[in-house]
Amino acid sequence: MGRILLAGATGYLGGHILTKLIEDNRQVTVIARQAGRIHPPPGSAPLVTVLPAELTQPQSIINCCEGIDTVISTVGITKPQKGLTYMDVDYQANLNLLQEARKSGVRKFIYISVYKGEQLQDIAICHAKEQFVNALKASGLEYCIIRPTGYFSDMAALFNLAKKGRVYLFAKGAAKINPISGEDLAAACVTAIDQDKREINIGGPQTMRFTQIAQTAFDVLHKKPAITYLPEWLRKTILRLARIFMPAPVFGPLEFFMTVMTTDMNAPEYGQDTLKAYFETSQ
Ligand SMILES: NC(=O)c1ccc[n+]([C@@H]2O[C@H](COP(=O)([O-])OP(=O)(O)OC[C@H]3O[C@@H](n4cnc5c(N)ncnc54)[C@H](OP(=O)(O)O)[C@@H]3O)[C@@H](O)[C@H]2O)c1
Repeated sequence: MGRILLAGATGYLGGHILTKLIEDNRQVTVIARQAGRIHPPPGSAPLVTVLPAELTQPQSIINCCEGIDTVISTVGITKPQKGLTYMDVDYQANLNLLQEARKSGVRKFIYISVYKGEQLQDIAICHAKEQFVNALKASGLEYCIIRPTGYFSDMAALFNLAKKGRVYLFAKGAAKINPISGEDLAAACVTAIDQDKREINIGGPQTMRFTQIAQTAFDVLHKKPAITYLPEWLRKTILRLARIFMPAPVFGPLEFFMTVMTTDMNAPEYGQDTLKAYFETSQ
């Protein structure tokens, strides 16, 4: 089994991928801008090498892919970042890594984009991700593009609203999604190392409407559901004003979330973890 280079291990999905790679006894090099945030479980130290580096600065990753069989990158902006755009990180930082991978003769590059990313390219995050996908496809390397729906970690926003007493939804809460846990998705990412699939659309085992997700949150909290359905014109107005008045790094994640809430994001079902169980452990 060849050595894996993992970028993004300090994040939600990347952390689960690191755990899974260690469970599978894989040799891993982890790139992190804050190396101190990587804590391999006891006994796993011989498997893990941590390389402090900043992917947005190409000089800090020179030769990082020497001796690497497969690169996995979950790197991307999911929360506002001062001074950096999706094009700087989701596109350019991953491109810097891809260039190193090509230079060092890496066999395969696995990248996490987003379900329906190609259709949603008028949204800044999807545009940047799909620009990288195009570069990866043209790179000559073996590749796998993983396209997940939403993660359980993102559904926590609805759970937190339920905790406060009321959930606000758009489009009558009718859009469908099958969110996936970090653990299930990590298993699929690690399986992809030795699979011959170029693109994987993937979601969790249960497809739900947003209304059902909100109801599940209230059930877990033993509260009577209190859901307000906001009209489409209001969503459009909020987005139009936010685009003008909000700094781009704050607007981006809002734009993505408010779009997903009105788009059917039901991908092929995978895994076993349920959102209800996740909410139960988030209380
Ligand atoms: N969350 C979702 O629902 C969802 C759905 C579909 C696809 N995705 C995609 O899946 C990927 C992983 O998501 P996640 O929820 O695990 O994200 P996350 O928890 O925010 O982790 C993102 C990772 O990217 C790294 N990163 C961010 N900005 C960076 C920068 N400027 N330079 C270097 N590294 C940087 C972070 O490092 P630091 O810890 O140092 O910041 C972290 O390791 C992302 O690309 C995301 O767009 C997410």
